Amino acid sequence: MTRIIEEPTSRIASLASAIDSLLASEACFDPRVIQRMIRDAFPDGNWLPRPMCQPGDEGYARHVLHSDAADRYTIVALVWTQGQHSPVHAHHTWCALCVVEGELLEEFFAYDPDGAAAVPAGSACRQVGEGSSGTAGLHLIHRVGNARPGTAISVHIYGVATSEMSSGINHVLPVVETAAA
Ligand SMILES: [Fe+2]
Repeated sequence: MTRIIEEPTSRIASLASAIDSLLASEACFDPRVIQRMIRDAFPDGNWLPRPMCQPGDEGYARHVLHSDAADRYTIVALVWTQGQHSPVHAHHTWCALCVVEGELLEEFFAYDPDGAAAVPAGSACRQVGEGSSGTAGLHLIHRVGNARPGTAISVHIYGVATSEMSSGINHVLPVVETAAA
């Protein structure tokens, strides 16, 4: 049987097309559906082209894979080397991520309204095919990073225009320091 290998640009276009259809049809939008779409777009591991897998020297690298023509969302690949991680943050927009290579550590936080800060609340290891998603607000507060040797790559989709990514995604929060037992 001949196996047809799709080009990366075609695969990204297919993912974007699926999101377009979802956004056009869903009366009640659920970013968990987006998370599953990313997972399903990588059924056999990471197929991103090499330039999209390059790490950064001063923190995790962010490579734009697709910018929605109507500015409703942006698809990016994040590349993490050991020790690189995001700040602790909530979100100004909906978001979804899925690991496509390596392993990421996702640390969770609850919101303390008295201190307007994040309180540690557990963690989870995210393997290839696993991820996270959330809506705008304080429902999901987390820090994502690579705690293991080697490179980890995750694909994220945010509900913002590419031009708004620097200020329109992360709502960075201070962390409540907990006293050692
Ligand atoms: Fe996030």
